[in-house]
Amino acid sequence: MQIELKSPFDAHLHLRDGAMLETTVPASAEQFAGAIVMPNLQPPLTDRHTIDSYRARIEAIGGESFAPAMTLFLTPSHTPADIEALKGVISAVKLSPAGSTTHSEKGLHDLVNNHSFMAVLEAMEAMDLPLCVHGETGDFVLDREAAFAPTYRALARRFPKLRIVMEHLGSRALLPLLDEQPNLYATVTLHHLLLDLDALLGGMLRPECFCKPVIKTPADREALQKVVLDAHPKIFFGSDSAPHPQADKARGAAGIFSAPVVLPALAGFFEQHDALDRMQPFLSDRARDFYRLDLPDRTVRLKKDPWRVPVSYGGVTPLFSGERLIWRVVDGA
Ligand code: DOR
Ligand code: ZN
Repeated sequence: MQIELKSPFDAHLHLRDGAMLETTVPASAEQFAGAIVMPNLQPPLTDRHTIDSYRARIEAIGGESFAPAMTLFLTPSHTPADIEALKGVISAVKLSPAGSTTHSEKGLHDLVNNHSFMAVLEAMEAMDLPLCVHGETGDFVLDREAAFAPTYRALARRFPKLRIVMEHLGSRALLPLLDEQPNLYATVTLHHLLLDLDALLGGMLRPECFCKPVIKTPADREALQKVVLDAHPKIFFGSDSAPHPQADKARGAAGIFSAPVVLPALAGFFEQHDALDRMQPFLSDRARDFYRLDLPDRTVRLKKDPWRVPVSYGGVTPLFSGERLIWRVVDGA
C-alpha cells in the first residue's frame, strides 16, 4: 500500500536561520515542495533586503525542489508604500500582536483602532495580498484564541476583500467564523489536530508538545478533526513547525518541531479515519489555490514501513521523539 501526494505544501513554517537551516530545510524539503516561511527571526524580516537574503540562504540548502514563499513581519512603522514595494517579493504579511508568541516583541500593540495599521490593510486589500494572523489576546491562556474572535470579525468586515488566515487554529470557538466571514480562512497544524493538553501535561511534562497557541481540550481536537475530515474548503495544512534548541526548550520556549514527522503522522491519521483521499486537498491543493503558487512539480510517496523517530535532529527534540510511526516517506522526487 502506497500514498502519492502531488507537491505537498506547508502553509506555515519556521525554519530559523544560520546553522539550524542545515537541519530544518532538509527536514521539510524531503516532504514538501514548498512552504510559507515565517518571518520571526531575530531581528524579524521587515524589509526587502533581509527577506531576499533569507530566501537565498534557504534555497542554497533546499535546491530547486523546495520553493520558500516569503512573508513580511509587520511592525508599527510599516507604511502602505513599504508593502506596495514588496509586490512579487512576498506571498503574505504576518501579523503577530506584540507579546503573543516567540519573537513577537516588535509586533503591533493596538489593532482595530490603529490608523496606520488600517492604512496598511487597505493597501494589502487592493493588492490582494493575504494577511496571516497569530490570533491570541492577553487573556487566560486557554481563552486567548476565542477572545480574539471579535478582532478577526472586525478586520474581516472592515476589509471584505482582504483574505485573512487564522493561523494554527486550535480553538473550536473560532470555527464558526469560517462560515460567517467569506474572507476568513485557517491553517491547522499536526499537533492541534492530533493532540490535546494530556499530551503536554497529562503525565511527565513534555516540553516538545508546548507551543502557542497551546494545544487545548479533547473537544477542540475533535472539532478540528471533524472539519478537516469533512474537507472544509477554507482550511489547509500549516505545520507551524517551530524548532528550539534543547536548552531553550528547557527554559520554556514555545514551539513544536514537527517537520520531520508531518506526512507520516498525517498519513496515519487519515488512514485511521478511512479518509486518505482527503490528504491531497488539505496538504496542497487548497493552499496552492489560496496563495496562487507555482510549485515545483513533485510526487512524494509514502509506504507502510515502521520507523522510530530519532530523539534529536541537530540538537532539537522533534514531536513524537523516540516513538514508532507506521508510514514512511520513501521518495520525494
Ligand atoms: O509556539 C510557537 N512558536 N508559536 C508561534 O506562533 C511561534 C513559534 C516560534 O516561532 O517559536
Ligand atoms: Zn508560527
